[in-house]
Amino acid sequence: MIPWTRRSFLVKTPALSVATPALGIAFGAAKGVGGAGKPALLGGPKIRSEKFPSWPVSGELEERALIETLRSGRWYRGNGQQTKKFEDAYLKLTGARHCLATANGTSALYVALNALGIEAGDEVIVPPYTFIATINVVLRQHALPVFVDTNINTFQIDATKIEAAISPRTKAIIPVHLGGSACDLDTILSVSRKHGIPVIEDACQAHLAEWRGHKVGTYGKAGCFSFQASKNLTCGEGGAILTDDDELYERCYTFHNNGSGLKAPGGNFAYSGTGDNRRMVEMEAALLLQQMTRLEEQSQRRTANALYLTSLIKEIPGITPAQMHDGCTRNAYHLYMFRYRRAEFAELPRTTFLKALTAEGIPASRGYSPLNKERFLKAALESRSYQKLFPENVLRNWEERNECPANNQLCSEAVWFTQNMFLGSKSDMDQIAEAIRKIKKHAGELTAA
Ligand SMILES: Cc1ncc(COP(=O)(O)O)c(C=O)c1O
Repeated sequence: MIPWTRRSFLVKTPALSVATPALGIAFGAAKGVGGAGKPALLGGPKIRSEKFPSWPVSGELEERALIETLRSGRWYRGNGQQTKKFEDAYLKLTGARHCLATANGTSALYVALNALGIEAGDEVIVPPYTFIATINVVLRQHALPVFVDTNINTFQIDATKIEAAISPRTKAIIPVHLGGSACDLDTILSVSRKHGIPVIEDACQAHLAEWRGHKVGTYGKAGCFSFQASKNLTCGEGGAILTDDDELYERCYTFHNNGSGLKAPGGNFAYSGTGDNRRMVEMEAALLLQQMTRLEEQSQRRTANALYLTSLIKEIPGITPAQMHDGCTRNAYHLYMFRYRRAEFAELPRTTFLKALTAEGIPASRGYSPLNKERFLKAALESRSYQKLFPENVLRNWEERNECPANNQLCSEAVWFTQNMFLGSKSDMDQIAEAIRKIKKHAGELTAA
């Protein structure tokens, strides 16, 4: 019996799996990259039975840091040092002037909106292709989300359509760097400057991503990050705001600390504003400091694997990987996204394509559905507060004004792989490509089944 499977061999010798790319290709070729064999969904052998690398990754570093923080008895930023240390480290990493750690990414956005004075009756420009938190924070302010369609090639907000969505009520733009790639910041910032409307970058999925050589999250008035469990940098739940604006930083600090600011006169129980409690916990910061030591290496591995996968699947008719905008000089690959066109796969519905991929041992999902069409949004607009705050014609025309046809199409075609799938070897990528080719080859049978 061979003591090691090919997978465990590669896992146990990571340098080898990275340093000898030809090895991965050879394995892929040996497995028949041409896509032979009956699909697993129809009872054939699956292409992959090993699990992809699990997430999150932790070890002694994290254990030691957590125990030390636990034993210190200093569990919150008021008497501990971990949160401040993390903020300093994140500043160093991103090149921003200020960093404020928060309870989560939603809180980062919420605090930034409040610190910028976005309030009831305002409008905020948002993409429809994002996690719901980007929209929820706008609704929490009783502001009106105004959706700008998606660029179907990049999966990012179509920045060329933002200007047309601006009204006298528009008080902020929240572009999202979706999936770890960057949205078109040149166009967005130029519209922002022209109209004097602040940009809050939602960089919750984009740690280490760059626009023209600088980290995303450092271009807008504020940049918001999430360290939730699925994210490339995680402590389970957590978030951060970056800003270069001294005053805005103070306002963010004050708001996230129940109105008690950095310079509040009189110490405890002195308030320089209203607020909420959105503070990070010391254990989270301690964990993040250790996770950061792994971030660069993990990121490079994801990038190498993602680029390799793109080279394998981009020529498959019906598969179109998400493109990057020209200014995106680093993609963090939080998600690997592509469009699936069923017409090229014998009309095999995307749902069956996803099931077939998953049956081959390649977990895949369909990603977001169109947020601008969510029923709860309609209910929000019909609520008493919105009826009081917005002119009747604004609410009546909202649906028409918020049509996003490109996004509708994208939501019907998108396929996602999660970031942990890119932490393994090139041969993992060969298997993904092999599974797609296999399904394509048997698409007719799968459609008929
Ligand atoms: C684009 C985007 N915005 C906001 C958030 C909210 O972050 P959190 O889950 O940390 O509150 C997330 C996280 O899932 C996200 O992906």
